[in-house]
Amino acid sequence: MRKKVTVIGAGNVGANCALRIADKELADVVLVDVVEGVPQGKSLDLLQSGPVQGYDVMLTGANDYEPTANSDIVVITAGFPRKPGMSRDDLLLANYEVVRAATEQAVKYSPNSILIVVTNPLDAMCQTAHMVSKFSKNRVIGMAGVLDSARFRTFIAQELKVAVENVTAVVMGGHGDTMVPLVRLSSVSGIPLSELMDQATIDRIVDRTRNGGAEIVKYLKTGSAYYAPSAATVEMVESILKDKKKVLPCAAYLEGEYGINGLFVGVPVKLGARGIEQIYQVKLAAEEQAMLQKSANAVKELVDVIRQKHG
Ligand code: APR
Repeated sequence: MRKKVTVIGAGNVGANCALRIADKELADVVLVDVVEGVPQGKSLDLLQSGPVQGYDVMLTGANDYEPTANSDIVVITAGFPRKPGMSRDDLLLANYEVVRAATEQAVKYSPNSILIVVTNPLDAMCQTAHMVSKFSKNRVIGMAGVLDSARFRTFIAQELKVAVENVTAVVMGGHGDTMVPLVRLSSVSGIPLSELMDQATIDRIVDRTRNGGAEIVKYLKTGSAYYAPSAATVEMVESILKDKKKVLPCAAYLEGEYGINGLFVGVPVKLGARGIEQIYQVKLAAEEQAMLQKSANAVKELVDVIRQKHG
């Protein structure tokens, strides 16, 4: 039987996820959005690209969740962008409502699905989806680390003028400016980064990675990145649907790993047919562990705001 993926939110990230899933012929796609006509129009447009691109999957748009029934994966990209005058907490609570409602509906129709959360603030939205769905922790996964490490890899390859496919990089922690690019675990075909660049260059690249999202917002002005975020999401979708067991940095619910308890934080995981099949605990240096803890504290602050408001 063909696989089925629901993408909630037919905006920039959602529509590009649908496009990439179709292009790779991974699954039939249902796009859901609150705006009438948009998911229908975009999915019809994507369907009509099939004969030219050579893919043959079904793409459907909807404003309700009935057509999403029995999805293998549900990708949640629905949300509001930050508007002028909105505080970080206002945005957090607005997107909490969106992700809560989306999760509630999606899991009603697809109780056996795996949830991939993309909406920001990412780690807090994962927590929301986890609380609302009551899914086991292996079936709620946040997309952040794949994107952040793709940015890190891009900048390393640019700097060294080497093929980006030779660059491996690990970014852990929350998806925000406290993320932890792990220089020690990053390499070019196995050659440690520290042997290829001086510390000042590494620091500059790490800093640019931490601000990678903001750099793009500054250019776009009216929105945030979507090509790399959708590519990162679909790498996760593919690893799950094809049971590839790729090891990727993703936001996962930690229960004691890295000394962190009851929070979603980005760590290396194995992604396969059961979702998160393993969480890797890498031995961290004291300084790295301190950065990770700081990042987890920043995630906890947001989760506490939600808890205060919603219990
Ligand atoms: N249910 C379904 N869709 C919704 C809902 C809802 N309750 N509320 C809003 N949406 C839809 C909007 O109508 C819009 O089409 O979510 C879509 C969001 O799309 P964009 O505004 O284009 O935002 P996008 O760039 O796709 O980013 C989506 O991903 O990377 C993150 O920070 C980003 O949180 C943001 C999310």
